[in-house]
Amino acid sequence: MSFPAQPDPHVIVLFGATGDLARRKLLPGLLRLSEAGLMPEQFRLVGTSLDEMDDEDFRAFAHDACMEFARAAVLDNGWRTFAPRLTYVPQSAGGGALADAVHAAVDELGGADAGVRILHYLSVPPSVASSAIGLLADSGLAENSRVVMEKPFGTDLDSARKLNATVHEVFEEHQVFRIDHFLGKEAAQNVLALRFANGLFEPIWNRQHIHHVLIEVPETLGIGMRANFYEATGAYRDMVVTHLMQVLAFVAMEPPTSLEPHAITEEKNKVFRSLKPLDPDHVVRGQYRGYRDEPGVAADSETETFVALRCEVDNWRWSGVPFYLRTGKRMAESARIISISYHEPPHGMFPAESGVRRYGPDHLTFDLDERSRMSLSFYGKRPGPGMQLDKASMQFSLEGTGKELEALEAYERLIHDAMVGDHTLFTTADGIERLWEVSAPLLASPPPLQPYEPGTWGPDAIDDLIAPYRWRLPFERRWRRSI
Ligand code: BG6
Repeated sequence: MSFPAQPDPHVIVLFGATGDLARRKLLPGLLRLSEAGLMPEQFRLVGTSLDEMDDEDFRAFAHDACMEFARAAVLDNGWRTFAPRLTYVPQSAGGGALADAVHAAVDELGGADAGVRILHYLSVPPSVASSAIGLLADSGLAENSRVVMEKPFGTDLDSARKLNATVHEVFEEHQVFRIDHFLGKEAAQNVLALRFANGLFEPIWNRQHIHHVLIEVPETLGIGMRANFYEATGAYRDMVVTHLMQVLAFVAMEPPTSLEPHAITEEKNKVFRSLKPLDPDHVVRGQYRGYRDEPGVAADSETETFVALRCEVDNWRWSGVPFYLRTGKRMAESARIISISYHEPPHGMFPAESGVRRYGPDHLTFDLDERSRMSLSFYGKRPGPGMQLDKASMQFSLEGTGKELEALEAYERLIHDAMVGDHTLFTTADGIERLWEVSAPLLASPPPLQPYEPGTWGPDAIDDLIAPYRWRLPFERRWRRSI
């Protein structure tokens, strides 16, 4: 990960080209990269999926997707450059037809001798990932190509090992890019910048100063049309063993020796190796009332739509510092925050009536949303007579820096990284297998489900999990709207 590099000419083969992720993120993201001059000068996109379409239908589909979901207005010029590069092959046409279309696209760009690369993007459910890999192998499309894979990578240690073995029969590890889009968020990378590019924070980034760490990702949305996926997945597999743990690794890792992919991956994997196996007694599983009535959900479903847990990174830096994680669907607000809580001061000079401690300890908070906000909250004196304390904060937001438009959305960033072969923000087989290993006690004995009302912060038991401390959300004060 360094300065933006220009990718070689590319043929991108998009599996699941008419799926939800392609519509919401991948097609608009590719258009945006093209408009921003971050796609290779020469590229082609070959879409494939179960839908029967021709090239024109697919271009119309992609246009609608971009109109609905692109972050900025779709400009005629940008679209006219992008659209002719899209073609489509339905799955029913078979691997041979797909291979022909890909080879034709490679030839149009000058052939393999012109340095044209092939990037396969498997935007397909885990149950289909293995067969897509088989198809790539059988049709000769795997050789010298790269492949981007979507989570979840298995459902437990055993299935993750099997999936990795299947992948490794066809691809070398350096060809594989396992995506976790939380790591592509600007704000997640700002954790690295803040920690390792400043002298101020790293000296206090340890158990001597930090009391506990919170990672909270409540979502107001429900499961939408994803009942099939969600019933078999649940909040823990969908969010915790993937996104929240990856974010935790950025918070907890030791300073990498360099900004090179291997150095960062190694430090993240060391965090995963230090994680204590999860204790089911420190986990609250919840299900929102009404979930079992959602279309496609079993009337006696035991799938959790909420999970909160305490985990520990058992190493020199973090020994004794609990990490509390919480995420769920149909909750009171949507947010994605990391909050670092510092120890209380050792001497209670301020009486309780002053307001000290009313809002918990001082916090450093990262908001992982697109505004990439950070805030340092602390007690300060309330203006006026006497000594009353209020919680104040210093805040940074990408909004107001004048650079908002330069930020890339997570998928844009990661597709670009995959095209230039940069693994820094991708996860590895080792790391994922270790996360399933620490999950084993929880998967073997999940605590009973607790119901919660939609629009709340989860089951009541989550307060006992964190007591005597408190969850960071809802915030005691609002983010400032403009800085
Ligand atoms: C996805 C999960 O990986 O991440 C979804 O499958 C979740 O259930 C989503 O809603 C959250 O991502 P973001 O970027 O909207 O916070």
